[in-house]
Amino acid sequence: MFDKVEKFKSELKALEVKTKDELEQFRIKFISKKSVVSELFNDFKNVPNEQKKQFGVALNELKNLAQEKLKEMSSSLERDGSTSENTGTLDLTLPGVANDLGSIHPLTLTKNKIIEIFERMGFNVVDGPEIEDDFYNFTALNFPENHPAREMQDTFFIEKNPDKVLRTHTSNVQIRLMENQKPPFRSIMPGRVYRNEAISARAHCFFHQVEGLYVDKNVGFKDLKQTVYHFAKEMFGKDTKIRFRPSYFPFTEPSAEIDISCFICQGKGCNVCKYTNWVEIAGSGMVDPNVLANCGIDPEEYTGFAFGMGIERIAMLKYQIDDLRLFSENDVRFLRQFQGSF
Ligand code: DAH
Repeated sequence: MFDKVEKFKSELKALEVKTKDELEQFRIKFISKKSVVSELFNDFKNVPNEQKKQFGVALNELKNLAQEKLKEMSSSLERDGSTSENTGTLDLTLPGVANDLGSIHPLTLTKNKIIEIFERMGFNVVDGPEIEDDFYNFTALNFPENHPAREMQDTFFIEKNPDKVLRTHTSNVQIRLMENQKPPFRSIMPGRVYRNEAISARAHCFFHQVEGLYVDKNVGFKDLKQTVYHFAKEMFGKDTKIRFRPSYFPFTEPSAEIDISCFICQGKGCNVCKYTNWVEIAGSGMVDPNVLANCGIDPEEYTGFAFGMGIERIAMLKYQIDDLRLFSENDVRFLRQFQGSF
């Protein structure tokens, strides 16, 4: 009997397991209710009385040894990782688990491209606040108080302070820039804007614009045309044509809406251009002398042009996206399609 205990002890000491299956076999043989150790405990009654004490000590040693061994082997298996399940070792030749790559949001891609094109033309990037005083969003931009032109844009007002609005356009940054610095200005101002509109495929309560402002001596409409023409060719391809349609904005005179030739159907007619062959990309015009004067700039000395374009609009054209809501839903099936684009 003593021999048996010794034999199991040395077996235990030499034992090593490589898989969870082997560990389980070990548990059944040495730890479970039917283990060899339990059997030996059952044999206890057959041990002569004078040897009982010694046998008890030896048996307890065997039991403790088995338990320690179990602990040690299961933690070493865990350390090796779950890949060792079948092979018993970590297979370093297996390909690693790849990290999920993120992607740049299509609006950011579009904004970056716009910035890149204008920076090459010498424009710098200027930022401004989204929660804005009525003065910068409207009054200084030549929207007289109570003038119906304010209704062109459905405004979100801040309840606690009726003088504050969520800016309805990025044109507010024009004023902040001209008020604080001296001309010449050659800047673009990208950012988020808000309008109280029902959300649909074509309208949203927030979206993004890029404002442009060029003020210097002798700036004319031709400079606006050439700048926008160059932008359109860089953004949509060298065959892109532009056209200006007369329009109205309180802060520009004259004002124009800018269309580009439909680069999707190349004049054949499609849904994007609604079979007109032209798609609108921006509002623009010569900065109204009142706006310059509101900012302390002498309109006799300086003239300038300005434009404002919707980033969503450009992105929708560029990537042929037909629902504005996709930009803010964060559906990874949509976002993943821009993986790898910079
Ligand atoms: N702020 C106008 C809008 O949101 C867009 C715009 C038109 C901006 C003409 C301009 C401009 O700077 O000159 O509809």
